[in-house]
Amino acid sequence: MRKLLFLLPVVALLVLASCGGKKNAGLPLTTDVPARPAGQEDMLAFAAPAIDTVRIGFVGLGMRGSSAIDRYIHMEGTKIVALCDVRQECVDRAQAKLAAAGFPAAAEYAGDTEVYKQLCERGDIDLVYICTDWVHHVPVALYAMEHGKHAAIEVPAATSLEDIWALINTSERTRKHCIQLENCCYDFYELNTLYMAQQGLFGEIFHGEGAYLHCLDPYWDQYWNHWRSEFNRTHRGDVYPTHGFGPVCQVFNIHRGDQLKTLVAMDTDPFTGPSVLRKVQPEVADPDNFMNGDHTTTLIRTAQGKTIQIQHGVMTPRPYSRLYQIQGTNGYATKYPRQGYSFTPDKIGDAVDLPDGYDGESFLSEGQMAQLLETYTHPLIKEIGEVARRVGGHGGMDFIMDYRLIYCLRNGLPLDMDVYDLAEWCCVGPLSALSIEHGSAPVEVPDFTRGGQDKLHGYRHYYIQ
Ligand SMILES: NC(=O)c1ccc[n+]([C@@H]2O[C@H](COP(=O)([O-])OP(=O)(O)OC[C@H]3O[C@@H](n4cnc5c(N)ncnc54)[C@H](O)[C@@H]3O)[C@@H](O)[C@H]2O)c1
Repeated sequence: MRKLLFLLPVVALLVLASCGGKKNAGLPLTTDVPARPAGQEDMLAFAAPAIDTVRIGFVGLGMRGSSAIDRYIHMEGTKIVALCDVRQECVDRAQAKLAAAGFPAAAEYAGDTEVYKQLCERGDIDLVYICTDWVHHVPVALYAMEHGKHAAIEVPAATSLEDIWALINTSERTRKHCIQLENCCYDFYELNTLYMAQQGLFGEIFHGEGAYLHCLDPYWDQYWNHWRSEFNRTHRGDVYPTHGFGPVCQVFNIHRGDQLKTLVAMDTDPFTGPSVLRKVQPEVADPDNFMNGDHTTTLIRTAQGKTIQIQHGVMTPRPYSRLYQIQGTNGYATKYPRQGYSFTPDKIGDAVDLPDGYDGESFLSEGQMAQLLETYTHPLIKEIGEVARRVGGHGGMDFIMDYRLIYCLRNGLPLDMDVYDLAEWCCVGPLSALSIEHGSAPVEVPDFTRGGQDKLHGYRHYYIQ
């Protein structure tokens, strides 16, 4: 079936040719934007009443959920009330962590994929923290919000437009936060670079790149029920876009001044997927019918005429990379394969002693980078960076993310990432698939705020109050 899809670019070209190459040959492709139900308001800058001690129920305690427990043991102002996983052994492991840290045992729910409902129905939980496989993120989050809980969901929170709109509508109607746990927004380099961008160091930022390029060979057979290889087997497009995309969207101030408008995507053939499947899921009858390409590239253009490129590749050996590149009129930042900055010499001010003859075409030296960070270390890193490094979680970024979530909930502040960020970052999955399935046709990115684009104009992420 995938082979037949290769004919679509040809069909699309023929359609364009028959329309005299006009740009308006039914393009960009559009998707339905459901009207906001009457009486429902947006969640832009939404702040819930402050919660003194945030009482948490965890659903999904596999690899990622288990490491969340390691972090929350160190989180002030929280109480781990309940633990839930299909597999009893995962709940047992989490209980053992609580016991070792001197905490009382939490209520536990295990045995099947519906038992999370009992956790959500409890009256003593404020936040449901969801680390299940992708298929179960949305049902758990919807049920949690319907039962009066804020929902925090691992990445990607949702994998279809239908689910994205369901999360938005439920969050708006129930007035409950629905946050996607995009930890890479809190990595040290990303936070510092965002801070520099907010001070104007890069000038006008017009291009960004992000990626998830990570060979998952050591992990394929560790996922519960092989959910991840199964999802890749059955879906084209960038199925894991948010690590690369989220931090770049924050630099671009998406739905806080600029707006995602059009997306195009292209993938390679699945050169490696079938052999992964033969190893991991030998029961699959037709492993060659594998949908996800070894490498998928997506390009997005914004309302202000800027571009973002996102890549996904999880099949083949290579050093890990999220790219994270920012290009502005006065400067450039890149995180992989090496961290570096370069700037237009006369625009950087006096934060760095530049050597005579520096022309901006080479990276700042280690010493100059250190000087730069004396002025431009993000306030959040100054506040909690050392503790975060000690607690860990991808070098500390996971802890900074949790710390900010709990801080905002305890202080009744809007969260750093709202349900529209969730929607914009997740929509790359289904929209890239749509573009690819139509011969890399341009696809319009819906306005998930439904007309609220100007409301947060000028807002700065992580404003520390
Ligand atoms: N942000 C990051 O850096 C990062 C890193 C790894 C994984 N993740 C995300 O975390 C999530 C989990 O990934 P993982 O690697 O831990 O996978 P995993 O397979 O190790 O864990 C998933 C767990 O969810 C449980 N589960 C599934 N459905 C459930 C249900 N309905 N009720 C209760 N429990 C249920 C399974 O039993 C399993 O223990 C995924 O969304 C993944 O993308 C994020």
